[in-house]
Amino acid sequence: MIIIKSETEIKKISEACKIVAEILDKLKKYIKEGITTAQIETFVEKEIYKKKALPAFKGYRGYPSSVCLSLNSQVVHGIPSKGVKLKNGDIISIDLGVLLNGFYGDAAITLSVGEVSQEAKKLIEVTEQALYIGIDNAKVGNRVSDISSSIQQHVEKNGFSVVRAFVGHGIGRFLHEDPQIPNFGKPGRGVKLREGMTIAIEPMVNIGSPDVMILEDGWTAVTVDGSLSAHFEHTVAITKNGPEILTK
Ligand code: MF3
Ligand code: CO
Repeated sequence: MIIIKSETEIKKISEACKIVAEILDKLKKYIKEGITTAQIETFVEKEIYKKKALPAFKGYRGYPSSVCLSLNSQVVHGIPSKGVKLKNGDIISIDLGVLLNGFYGDAAITLSVGEVSQEAKKLIEVTEQALYIGIDNAKVGNRVSDISSSIQQHVEKNGFSVVRAFVGHGIGRFLHEDPQIPNFGKPGRGVKLREGMTIAIEPMVNIGSPDVMILEDGWTAVTVDGSLSAHFEHTVAITKNGPEILTK
């Protein structure tokens, strides 16, 4: 069931989204060689509580942490750890959701640590571009798969592959609502996009094969071939004036 939001509800979602965007922005400066992913989580939690919000992911289906930190060949849902130190040349995907006054905001970015390879740089660039191309297609009159196919085309045109095992989603009073927003597929399929829909669009892109597997911790998704993976996500409202990025 797709839940259409009123302007007041979109306002509330955007307040949660603003906190997510601000914290991700602060992390761009905080992330550097030598810090552990556990330190990043501590930093993120403090920022969330400062804003009187709650971490959306902690305890969600048993996920143990307030933020997903996925390094290199990890695709999504990496768990912060005291034993993992960032090193020069790493790429790190940071996925963050918060709950504020009954509404969720959700976004992700991928950052480089120090100097990364040309290939890694291109992967990050293409994944972010794919997100914005998908967002451009999140407009009234289009269908869900117009978003999906535009993302897939951009990624594959650049020689990379889109992950199929995880998808974007509606968002609002729940972290995950209908409809699902895949990052692949033929255009012109799925439900029609309507004013008042709020969705999280989140391409996950691998350099090699699109296939992923889950590690023994039950969460961390990694590429099967060990290739690098990047992830970008925005929460977006579909309005009569076009897509509005709420996690900007
Ligand atoms: N952005 C991800 C999603 O929408 C994060 C969920 S992670 C979980 O699925 F840990 F909360 F499951
Ligand atoms: Co999401």
